[in-house]
This record gives sequence, C-alpha cells and structure tokens, in this order.
Amino acid sequence: MQVIIFDDAQHVATNAAEWVAELINKNPKPVLGLATGSTPISLYQQLVNKHQAGQLSFKNTTSFNLDEYLGIDASNAQSYRHFMNENLFDHIDIDISKTFLPTCAQGENPRTQGLKYEEQIKQAGGVDLQILGIGANGHIGFNEPTSSLASRTRIKTLTQQTLTDNSRLFDNNEFQPTLAMTMGIATILDARYVLLIATGESKAKAVKDMVAGPLSAMCPASALQMHENAIVLLDKAAASQLEDQEYYQWAHDQNIKINQEFGLYHNY
Ligand code: GLP
Repeated sequence: MQVIIFDDAQHVATNAAEWVAELINKNPKPVLGLATGSTPISLYQQLVNKHQAGQLSFKNTTSFNLDEYLGIDASNAQSYRHFMNENLFDHIDIDISKTFLPTCAQGENPRTQGLKYEEQIKQAGGVDLQILGIGANGHIGFNEPTSSLASRTRIKTLTQQTLTDNSRLFDNNEFQPTLAMTMGIATILDARYVLLIATGESKAKAVKDMVAGPLSAMCPASALQMHENAIVLLDKAAASQLEDQEYYQWAHDQNIKINQEFGLYHNY
C-alpha cells in the first residue's frame, strides 16, 4: 500500500486528478471506477476543469460506480446517479450510456441485478482505476463492517453509524434509504489500481485501521492491504493517527526517484 500525505484536501484532489488524467490519456479504452460522497467532489471538479481547459476527454471512458441506494431512480435528487450527473457527467464529454451504477429498482431482484453488474464490469474488460472514499467505520462502497472480504455486488443493509453520518445530506422529512446495492470487496480488489482518498479528522481512525490495523472484515478498507496497487492519498488530518508518517514521505520520495531512473510508472 502506497500512502501519500498532503498538506490539505485541495492537494489530495489535485493529485488524485493527475492519476485519473494519466489513465485516461494513456489508455485508449479506460474503465474508471467511481465513488460518491463529499470527499471526491473536489476531485470531480478538477476533472471538469481539465476537460473544460481542453486537456482531458472522456469520450472513450466507461465508468462503474461503487454503489447506489435501493429502489431509488435517477429522478430522485438523493440518488447516486443524480450525484454523478450533477458533479461530473453533465460537465464532461463522457458517453452517458457507458456510465453504470449498480441499480436495483422497486420490484427488481437484487441478486440478479448484482450478477448483471459483475457481468457488465467483466464485459468492459474490468476496472482499470477504482476511486474510493472511506466511511468513518472503515467501509468502502457500502461494504459495512463484517462484509465478506470475498463479496461481490449485492444488497447491503446500512449500519446505524453510516445512516447517522449520511443523514446530514437528507432533509428532516426526506426518506433516507437503509438498503443499498454495492460492489463487493472482491469486486473492488479486482480493479488494476485502487486510489483511496480520505480527508479530515473524522477519517483518521478508519485510515489507521486500514493502513496499520489487522486485515479484518471489521474494517473493510483493510482488504486493500491485499491489493498489489493500492494508493492512499490523505490530508494531514486524515493521516494524524498514523505512526509512520515520516517513512511514508520518505518512501514516496524514493518512489519518485526510482520512477525517474527506471521509467517505471503505472501500467495502465
Ligand atoms: C458513503 C459512500 C462511500 C463513501 C463514504 C464516505 O456512504 N457509500 O462510497 O466513501 O460514504 O463519504 P464522505 O466522502 O462523504 O465522507
């Protein structure tokens, strides 16, 4: 796991956007895994800026989102489809028919829908770069603590902590879904690269458990310890409970030198 610590959230977003831009510019048919939540909003803003400046085209990009609430359609302002349209898709040149979310409408079978999503990812050639945030309880996507490390796209019941954390996004009388479809942990681990971004003090404990804790279903993000190419971009607040911060900085400096000397870089 490569941990890179930045002074603030803005630098995290700028750096994350560079990773995405590199993939899109290098790969003729890039497949991006996307996340929702407050954290990636500034990353998406950076991508929109790059597109508007003529530096980045998403014409050949296919995208797969991590998760979507159950029984909510695109017309609902709380849907993750709505979030993605508003924060990214409406402002770039991506072919909207190549943007996928793991939906499950009222009356549809979540099991069939989960299998279908796995198949769609496979047909697209797999995810090249998966963007991830992290929940305060260590969840990735909506894989809550105790999720199987071998899980695939399926329906999940959200924990009380996640419902409370996300309640800030819902008005008092607004329906807040308690069920969601989410890529599984094994689905996420299949991505060729995984880029997790975390900012703010509220994520510090989850980040510590992910990076330095035991591999455990109690912290689903710790499964990234098993990934060959997991990159974790943090601001200082999110990194504040990590003990080996100097080592991470030093290792990052060495990696830059190694890449410069040997031309090793991401194999997109
Ligand atoms: C949500 C999403 C996750 C996201 C997490 C953190 O519940 N399902 O994909 O990473 O919560 O969100 P935020 O960035 O708003 O803290």
